[in-house]
Amino acid sequence: MSKLPSISVASATKFVILLAISLLFGNFLIVVQSNAISPKRYQKLIGPGFSTNWFKTAQPMAKYSEQNIIDVRNKNFSNLRLRCRADLYSYDYTATNFTWFLGNLTTVVDHCLKNKVIPIISWIHHHAEAFASEDDRVAYVAWWTAVANELKDKDYKLSFNLFTELGTDDCGNNCGESLRERSDKYNSWTSDVVKAIRATGGKNDQRILILGSPGKTAKDLEKIEPEIYENDDYIMAEWHIYASGPNKKPGGQKFWKKNGTDKGRDNVKLAIEPATNFTQDRGILTYLGAWMPQDNKDGDLNQQEVINFARYFVEQLCNAGVPWSLNVLDRYYDTKEKRWLKEKQEIKGRSLNMSEVLENIRDVMPKDAKACY
Ligand SMILES: *[C@@H]1O[C@H](CO)[C@@H](O)[C@H](O)[C@H]1NC(C)=O
Ligand SMILES: *[C@@H]1O[C@H](CO)[C@@H](O)[C@H](O)[C@H]1NC(C)=O
Ligand SMILES: *[C@@H]1O[C@H](CO)[C@@H](O)[C@H](O)[C@H]1NC(C)=O
Ligand SMILES: *[C@@H]1O[C@H](CO)[C@@H](O)[C@H](O)[C@H]1NC(C)=O
Ligand SMILES: *[C@@H]1O[C@H](CO)[C@@H](O)[C@H](O)[C@H]1NC(C)=O
Ligand SMILES: *[C@@H]1O[C@H](CO)[C@@H](O)[C@H](O)[C@H]1NC(C)=O
Repeated sequence: MSKLPSISVASATKFVILLAISLLFGNFLIVVQSNAISPKRYQKLIGPGFSTNWFKTAQPMAKYSEQNIIDVRNKNFSNLRLRCRADLYSYDYTATNFTWFLGNLTTVVDHCLKNKVIPIISWIHHHAEAFASEDDRVAYVAWWTAVANELKDKDYKLSFNLFTELGTDDCGNNCGESLRERSDKYNSWTSDVVKAIRATGGKNDQRILILGSPGKTAKDLEKIEPEIYENDDYIMAEWHIYASGPNKKPGGQKFWKKNGTDKGRDNVKLAIEPATNFTQDRGILTYLGAWMPQDNKDGDLNQQEVINFARYFVEQLCNAGVPWSLNVLDRYYDTKEKRWLKEKQEIKGRSLNMSEVLENIRDVMPKDAKACY
């Protein structure tokens, strides 16, 4: 009888000590991990939103006000893709006008974070990505290093999307050196930038980085060198199609007519499937950074077709678990006048009520992100 209590006291003491250590350790883990955001959670936070044009001009703030962000949030959109034209500046990223750009970008990022909108910064330089010289690679790394340094302490809700899209418009039929055709170059540019951003420290070591697709659409995601993401828990990938909308080119991959029963829906499925496969095979979640429902090149889809496509596409992206940015905010909202557009718009010879289109998108878009992502 005398033994038992003494054993109990000893084991109780041990238990208390172990408990204290595990609590301490647990708290330590919680403190370290509480703010970093997993890709799974980040997809829910991105939800539906818009791509934007503010940083595609030399005077980013000329048509901007914080009210723009508030209005977007009040319509239940939750992300803004801040596409930044690096080609507006020289490769000297210490230049005064680049410092202004960084200041302006910081202002918009802060307004997004304050108003519960996810800011996604992306780089554009169509000439650099089309010719991809060594100087261009060095400048690309320098650009992201400057942006990442400036914003390294911002909330984890800010993400960096390494390419807006890899275009080939600038190289015509001389695209042999472009990042689109040289996935070896794509991989070295991307790998270098991921390392450079992570090395800036602050919250950048666990910030979400969204890689671009080597070929723009989802089918090229598999060309991303796995070494870039396999030991990093905070990597996603961006892809897109229909950035200038569906069209009526017979046999084309973006063909859509009437309610999509004649090939249109099949095209949407074929567009999304490689992204779903990539996520399944590689474990990397994706985001779609630019789509529009109207035919922005030829105006060939009528009002009802635009609405039909929009509703179908939004539903399919929800089924696939891919959050998105609608291209582009200015088509639906006047940033300078701070108001949603209600009047009809003439788009490539087609008169469309984009307000009605947006209401249809809002009608089918995720009201509760948990339903999709
Ligand atoms: C910034 O300054 C550089 C060097 O003077 C110039 O080449 C570039 O056009 C300027 N960019 C803007 C957006 O003002
Ligand atoms: C935004 O979503 C919330 C929550 O689902 C809802 O209560 C509200 O009515 C929505 N606002 C608009 C303008 O649709
Ligand atoms: C924003 O850019 C303009 C020049 O376009 C500059 O005058 C202004 O100081 C910048 N704002 C910040 C916060 O850097
Ligand atoms: C078009 O397709 C949608 C979605 O499948 C469906 O809800 C709608 O009834 C269809 N409209 C017509 C006119 O067939
Ligand atoms: C996606 O994966 C499925 C199942 O493995 C396969 O049948 C299909 O062809 C793949 N699709 C694409 C576009 O690679
Ligand atoms: C466009 O559609 C909206 C409904 O979404 C309506 O309020 C507005 O009056 C329409 N505009 C025109 C010019 O028909």
